[in-house]
Amino acid sequence: MSQVRESTAFDVVRVSKIKNDIILNVQSLKKYFPIRKGFFQRMDGYVKAVDDVNFYIREGETFGLVGESGCGKTTLGRCVLRAIEPSEGATLFRDREGQMRDLNKLDAKELRKFRRDIQLIFQDPYSSLNPRMTVQNIVGEPLICNKLASGEELRIRVRQLVEMVGLNSRHMDRYPHAFSGGQRQRIGIARALATNPRFVVCDEAVSALDVSVQAQILNLLQDLQKQLGLSYLFISHDLGVIQHISDRVGVMYVGRMVETARTEDLFMRPRHPYTEALLSAKPVPDPRKKVERIVLAGEVANPANPPSGCYFHPRCPYAQEICRSEKPVWRPVSEDHFVACHRAEELTLQGAQLS
Ligand SMILES: Nc1ncnc2c1ncn2[C@@H]1O[C@H](COP(=O)(O)OP(=O)(O)OP(=O)(O)O)[C@@H](O)[C@H]1O
Ligand code: SF4
Ligand SMILES: [Mg+2]
Repeated sequence: MSQVRESTAFDVVRVSKIKNDIILNVQSLKKYFPIRKGFFQRMDGYVKAVDDVNFYIREGETFGLVGESGCGKTTLGRCVLRAIEPSEGATLFRDREGQMRDLNKLDAKELRKFRRDIQLIFQDPYSSLNPRMTVQNIVGEPLICNKLASGEELRIRVRQLVEMVGLNSRHMDRYPHAFSGGQRQRIGIARALATNPRFVVCDEAVSALDVSVQAQILNLLQDLQKQLGLSYLFISHDLGVIQHISDRVGVMYVGRMVETARTEDLFMRPRHPYTEALLSAKPVPDPRKKVERIVLAGEVANPANPPSGCYFHPRCPYAQEICRSEKPVWRPVSEDHFVACHRAEELTLQGAQLS
């Protein structure tokens, strides 16, 4: 039974690939960190930080990735960037000629070509900028490293980038400490866009900012996306931010993707009990419409020693015998909506209200 379901899920992904609009297709991706113990650093198991994850991102779309702290969001983002080596699986990325290439199979030379196309915006605008470098040097560095510009051309390009993110180009010779948190994040965005990338991973890119500044940076990211045709993998633990910025959303739990869907579908018609629980924990925008809160029993599972079957079963109010013994298969339940839950087709779960 589970074998039949599995092949159906992958067929749907293959059909979508043929549509030619997918920029990133992650298949069965795993990242296991070895745990070493004692004087001789003996291997003592693995932290399964990313555990058999599948999802895809279309050209020009924002894919929001959400889940509790430690569920593997950053590790997944770093695997996609090949900042760390995945343990297994494929990361198919569409190159500028339209071919899907597996980033995990590229050698160092080939990978360097793709580095221009895939960039990262960091969480912390304070620690991610070198305090001893001017804005000119920070934003210009990737252009120099990739041999994309030098001399006067370099200065012109940096000025363009700085103005594009809403900063005053007369301040290019200043150091990071002269700028506010929001302005520093703009510098980080200018640096990420310097190589003219097509795909950007934003890892908690607004989490360190005040709410009013968050909104300005989110608007900037959306404007730049339209202007430059960017695709985003947008990582956040904040459901409000994810709802605001994402076209589609993926929910992770203990290293596994448990649900992906279009934003409205996921928020209004969740199909995984963990998504329902997350949504119930979100503040209700209209206090007159009461949404019943679900109190989750038990602790988040340990990725070094996850439970049997469905990792969510010790906390799931809908768990049955099969949930304790068999891992649920990742499969489509409707167009663009994938879930890993034995009971996805039969349960009617409670959604949130779009604010
Ligand atoms: N280099 C590493 N070595 C060993 N374990 C690691 C390493 N990096 C991450 N982990 C573990 O992998 C799991 C996932 O961590 P990760 O940072 O990806 O989670 P996250 O979802 O980004 O969390 P947060 O919301 O707090 O940023 C955690 O259990 C973490 O302790
Ligand atoms: S598979 Fe079972 S335990 Fe897991 S989320 Fe679905 S109903 Fe709950
Ligand atoms: Mg993280």
